Amino acid sequence: MKIGIIGGTGFYQPGLLDNEKDEVLRTPYGDVNLKTGCYKGRQVVFLARHGVRHTVPPHLVNYRANIWALHSSGVTKVIATAAVGSLNEDMRPGDIVLVDQFIDFTKSRPQTFFEGGEAGVLHVDMTHPYCPELRSEIFQIASRNRIPVHRCGTYACTEGPRYETPAEVRMLRKLGGDVVGMTSVPEVVLAREAGLCYAALALITNYGAGISPHPLSHREVLDAMERAQEVLRRLIFSAVEQVREERHCSCASAADELGSLGRKTDQEE
Ligand code: HPA
Repeated sequence: MKIGIIGGTGFYQPGLLDNEKDEVLRTPYGDVNLKTGCYKGRQVVFLARHGVRHTVPPHLVNYRANIWALHSSGVTKVIATAAVGSLNEDMRPGDIVLVDQFIDFTKSRPQTFFEGGEAGVLHVDMTHPYCPELRSEIFQIASRNRIPVHRCGTYACTEGPRYETPAEVRMLRKLGGDVVGMTSVPEVVLAREAGLCYAALALITNYGAGISPHPLSHREVLDAMERAQEVLRRLIFSAVEQVREERHCSCASAADELGSLGRKTDQEE
């Protein structure tokens, strides 16, 4: 089994990998830089969502190329990190949230591999956008390692790259968001279309604008990520080592409907 790690803001190197190699993978959407290696016998494929020097803003991340690259390198389970602001007083800076739902406020991002025509049309089910089985395993691994993690939470995804206004933060809270970030959509959607199990570890770096007593800055986010680095890495690599290979979830078959609805069947042709 190969496990994919998507490193978000402040998580640009996998670390801890044996035989680490840089690779460039060609996809129909563009080239993707990957690092491959091994951790305790498990094969790992790592990619830095924003590039290793944080040169790609959230609205310009090539989400389709990234997910395609992980899928075509044989990855079946993906653990992503994401820096987020908190909208919920019970979720504090430094906390980790295993998000289970999202609300999408992005505006300009391709959200599907299936653009119609020959590619077909897919209305992928989003009842469980983040793999419940992988989340539950990571939660148990965190408990065993005494790493405190919130079992669930709703990720409100904004377009960025700017931070939110306090009025937007009030709105996102009222709509049920627990944390706010700029990247989980469409990453999780595309992972689901590709049949991958996908879980996101949202690391709270700040309170949302207007809840925070001071204006937000990227520096504050990076500093909080730096402080959390050790614990986040410990959790991710314990998960890489311990998650089971078998899959009892529905992630692998999320795009099955396309076979009967999107593409012409042999008889129709
Ligand atoms: N808003 C959006 N994205 C973020 C934030 C925030 O407050 N903090 C870290 N990423």
